[in-house]
Amino acid sequence: MWVSDLDLLDGIDEQRSWREDLCDGAVVLRAYALEYEADLLAGIESVRQAAPFRHMHTPGGFRMSVAMTNCGACGWVTDRTGYRYDAIDPLSGQPWPQMPASFVRLAQAAASAAGFTDFLPDACLINCYEPGARMSLHQDRDEQDLQQPIVSVSLGIPAVFQFGGDTRADKPQRLPLQHGDVVVWGGPARLRYHGVLALREAMHPLLGRRRINLTFRKAG
Ligand code: SIN
Ligand code: FE2
Repeated sequence: MWVSDLDLLDGIDEQRSWREDLCDGAVVLRAYALEYEADLLAGIESVRQAAPFRHMHTPGGFRMSVAMTNCGACGWVTDRTGYRYDAIDPLSGQPWPQMPASFVRLAQAAASAAGFTDFLPDACLINCYEPGARMSLHQDRDEQDLQQPIVSVSLGIPAVFQFGGDTRADKPQRLPLQHGDVVVWGGPARLRYHGVLALREAMHPLLGRRRINLTFRKAG
């Protein structure tokens, strides 16, 4: 990991934020989401009221340790029939809540800071981790247009993100993520395997014993 002189100069404008390149097409934007913090927390609260977090089941029948909800035109769901994007929340039978404008602004700004202009997310998966919850290595490949990147925002207690290669067998890098960090991957890195190690017990002043991850995608 390195920070170039140019990034340091950018950092003067962006105050507390800086970038680390992971590979061609993937970057970590440290603290990038902090200036959106209040809007993000308010947005998550209103989405949660309309579409509560729930533990979905994998097609194999396992209950996921991460609780999930969605906002935007498409929501990612999994059940015994498989993984898919659905415009309707299966719990309520209603469309997923709208994606708050501040979410879209953050996702687009982060994508373009990472070199992906014209990102138009229509799906925001909201993952809620408590200590012990984890997400095993997987690829994001249920989206129709793989030209568009993934923008992944971390809030709350820390986690160790695994960023792997193009095959499951490639040994992943371990990347500690903190409240406010944003990871963007696309282009040649779009199908990289990734996951999250089991979270350690911790307490965050705003989110308590929780990590919330927002994953923005163009799904439809
Ligand atoms: C995901 O891959 O959907 C979640 C990644 C994360 O929680 O950081
Ligand atoms: Fe993912």
